[in-house]
Amino acid sequence: MTVVFRRNVSRMEGYVPGEQPRESGFIKLNTNENPYPPSPSVRTAILRELGEPLRLYPDPGSTALRRQAALTYGFDLPWVIAGNGSDDLLAMIARAFVGEGDRLACPVPTYTLYDTLVRIQGGKLAGVPYPDDYSLPRGLAGKKARVTVVANPNSPSGTAVPVRALEELADAVPGLLVVDEAYADFADETALALARERRNVIVLRTLSKSFSLAGMRIGLGFASPRIIEGLDKVRDSYNLNRLSIVAGVAALADIGWMERNAARIRKTREALASALPGVGFTPFPSQSNFILARRSRGGSARPVYEALKRRKILVRYFDTPRLAGCLRITVGTDDEVGALLGALKAIR
Ligand SMILES: Cc1ncc(COP(=O)(O)O)c(C=O)c1O
Repeated sequence: MTVVFRRNVSRMEGYVPGEQPRESGFIKLNTNENPYPPSPSVRTAILRELGEPLRLYPDPGSTALRRQAALTYGFDLPWVIAGNGSDDLLAMIARAFVGEGDRLACPVPTYTLYDTLVRIQGGKLAGVPYPDDYSLPRGLAGKKARVTVVANPNSPSGTAVPVRALEELADAVPGLLVVDEAYADFADETALALARERRNVIVLRTLSKSFSLAGMRIGLGFASPRIIEGLDKVRDSYNLNRLSIVAGVAALADIGWMERNAARIRKTREALASALPGVGFTPFPSQSNFILARRSRGGSARPVYEALKRRKILVRYFDTPRLAGCLRITVGTDDEVGALLGALKAIR
């Protein structure tokens, strides 16, 4: 007996997450994690929840977390949904809106998970290339997709488009506009007001980056109740565990901690951006906690990635035609960035 996968599943590649080395001792600048620890109140909240309470299922609605998120960001409770990371929210959106043959439009290059999720559904990704300046491309609304997704700031470019452009896009698309704001705490603007004002917009946030909680898997979605209710139908019943719920509440309640770390990261980012040309790389303007940079003298960035890895520094490199010669470097601490710059200088 052979087992038969759905055709689109057997044909597709699975999503490949960033490298997570087993050995310790790496300076890890490859998956846009935060170099600073989460708020100490997260630890206290998790310790309080450990033990006896774990016997019981978590609240299926993650109510305490959603209530805190509503308070923090100025929404009413029915406007908030929680996910096991924002990846979980993206998967719910794909499940709820993208059927066989349906289109999901997005500017490219962008977060490659969108493509994987659409393929799982048997849908089609309609990618519209970003222009060289990474402004919002024309032609997204013309794709007539059920869902249009813009990562803002975008990965891997690190660039951001003005919220004004997203507002126009929300009015032009025939379906849902998803603004994936995984990196918004490092940027100048947020589209959260659009989620309040437009009935076809959902804004996604994550606690993985600015709140230093990638290991807990906590994502948030903000949209009008009709969208939230629809997504709720396709959500795993217990999608957040007990520890993640209490960790998320504690982190959001101590938002000052996150803001101080985000400010430090922005400062280090500017220092890194200024130093990169001196070590042979031209940075794209970043509003994220990472910088995309192209080798100034051309050629593949792979040998640089490999030479850095030998020195126990991990970054991402890209070899697609559009991103040829590019490295994506997460902004670490000042010391980590100093070590990276020293290594790049030595490698040249
Ligand atoms: C644009 C974008 N969206 C979403 C995510 C996933 O975030 P989470 O850890 O909340 O699943 C990432 C992570 O790298 C990302 O780059």
